[in-house]
Amino acid sequence: MENKKIQIFDTTLRDGEQVPGCKLNTKEKIIISKKLEDLGVDIIEAGFPTSSPGDYKSVQEICKSVSKTTIVCALSRAVEKDIEIAAQALQYANRPRIHTGIGTSNYHILYKFNSTPHKIIERAIHAVKYAKKFVEDVEFYAEDAGRTENEFLAKICENVIKYGATVINIPDTTGYCLPKEYGEKIRFLKENVKGIHKIILSTHCHNDLGLATANSLSGIINGAQQVECTINGIGERAGNTSLEEIVMIIKQNSHLNLFTKINTKLISSTSYLVSKCTGMNVQANKAIVGINAFSHSSGIHQDGVLKKRETYESINPEDVGINKSSIILTARSGRSALSYRYKKLGYFLNKNSLDLVYSIFLEYADRKKEITDIELKIILKKANINNNFLHKTNNNTTNNRRINVV
Ligand code: KIV
Ligand code: ZN
Repeated sequence: MENKKIQIFDTTLRDGEQVPGCKLNTKEKIIISKKLEDLGVDIIEAGFPTSSPGDYKSVQEICKSVSKTTIVCALSRAVEKDIEIAAQALQYANRPRIHTGIGTSNYHILYKFNSTPHKIIERAIHAVKYAKKFVEDVEFYAEDAGRTENEFLAKICENVIKYGATVINIPDTTGYCLPKEYGEKIRFLKENVKGIHKIILSTHCHNDLGLATANSLSGIINGAQQVECTINGIGERAGNTSLEEIVMIIKQNSHLNLFTKINTKLISSTSYLVSKCTGMNVQANKAIVGINAFSHSSGIHQDGVLKKRETYESINPEDVGINKSSIILTARSGRSALSYRYKKLGYFLNKNSLDLVYSIFLEYADRKKEITDIELKIILKKANINNNFLHKTNNNTTNNRRINVV
């Protein structure tokens, strides 16, 4: 069976940037978009041009600075003026895409638009037809599709396909769906919408219940061909599906017969860049990119990882651009981790010296969160190991010293 390509649609610069306090200027957006290109994303959603002159300018400058192969996308509501502005902002893009759409759930139809399902379909058709006047590639979003009845969603999809939508986005805008439910929605559309085989079906999941990645996964297992996501999972409220999670899930599970063209070795540096530019710290235990994602501090885990990395790691840190797993020294660490860290500093401790140093180490570690290299050297001094017993090893590594306890 041939592996199926999943398109990665990055919306860090649009949905990601909608986070309170996370304002990016044009220069930063260009730097990030170039990095996203190197990373290998298929589509960059560069912004929502009608929202502000600054966003308009950023979209325009991104179009000028990225390579010819990357699709640059701009968001708009199902409003003629928005669509015109999006088209203008995209004028320098080699592969422009307009992303237009409207709310389709009863909440949106009744309370946001004070409208009827029939009128919403008409507005959706009109938006797609209007966007097609400017660009060939038109993506339609059915906002709050997660809470939209499948039959109505199918009807609206069928209509926008008829008028030329090339991609249809099924957002779980409020992070409402369970993975099974979201997957069934995608399958329902695949099986019941006329013309669905002509377009790309896209997932766009929010993380209000921590299910964004699980829902996106369920979506692609059930036939979606594109995932909308952000670096570090940033986005409105609890955020969006995180790019690094969905990409690594696909990479780690070859039995899914899916692939992306992401260069995973650039994941860690891209995460760092986005965090630095946005000022949004990545939580320490965040999957794949958190500082603790490849750190081990408990004795049992450290001992296992030092014997064979795979005992406590299912992902190779090198695959995401991290050189090595880290062995963090805390009061939960054991002798093998301590010995490993001393070896890294060039000291080889025999059993007696390790026992002595370990007891002093524990006194320090009980008072501190983490023991640093400098503290390790202080501990050595405290252990009062006789210098006469400190000598270099025979293996020409000048900074390797063997320590014995007198
Ligand atoms: O979450 C959402 O519904 C969106 C759309 C505007 C695509 O971000
Ligand atoms: Zn969204």
